[in-house]
Amino acid sequence: MMDRPKITLRRACRDDSADLLAWRNDPDTRVNSRNTAEIAQASHESWLDKALNDANRRIWIVERDGRKIGTVSAVRTASAEVELSITVAPEMRGRGESGGMIRSAVLESMTEWPDVVIRAVVRVENAASRRAFERCGFGVTGEDDGLLVYRLIDDG
Ligand SMILES: CC(C)(COP(=O)(O)OP(=O)(O)OC[C@H]1O[C@@H](n2cnc3c(N)ncnc32)[C@H](O)[C@@H]1OP(=O)(O)O)[C@@H](O)C(=O)NCCC(=O)NCCS
Repeated sequence: MMDRPKITLRRACRDDSADLLAWRNDPDTRVNSRNTAEIAQASHESWLDKALNDANRRIWIVERDGRKIGTVSAVRTASAEVELSITVAPEMRGRGESGGMIRSAVLESMTEWPDVVIRAVVRVENAASRRAFERCGFGVTGEDDGLLVYRLIDDG
């Protein structure tokens, strides 16, 4: 059998706006987000314009064989931590893509911001996301109102 083509990460651009909004407004993404409200196109576009120019934020598009399979974003917080969030495109979920996406985003974040602590905040009931971060060396370091705070403990 042929090897699976490798995934690549590239910085998002304005042309990715519609995909990013569709993935963000997908019902499973909303249920698992801190803000569960549906986002209107106009507010998404003004948010994206700012986000793409924010030195403390990166939005990566993940592709396999030229096809977009999802996104990972990283935000550097005031406490000099970087918080990752991941969304696999709905039609690509459940196929084992999340681990490679998280690992690639960890490497990119460490290159962008050496010496920061990398974290992710995951809803207790989001079993797939918890498993994915745990498989990538993250461990639970706190909990607040049903949200687990994971930090990268072992980057292998
Ligand atoms: C959460 C999400 C990123 C996981 O990606 P995915 O491609 O669906 O998951 P994967 O196929 O890579 O599976 C990851 C792990 O979870 C397990 N898993 C997958 N679906 C599961 C489920 N419904 N319940 C329990 N475990 C599950 C897999 O078996 C795998 O574990 P393994 O490596 O031990 O086999 C993806 O479903 C998604 O984008 N969801 C909506 C947005 C979201 O929740 N983002 C995370 C916010 S913190």
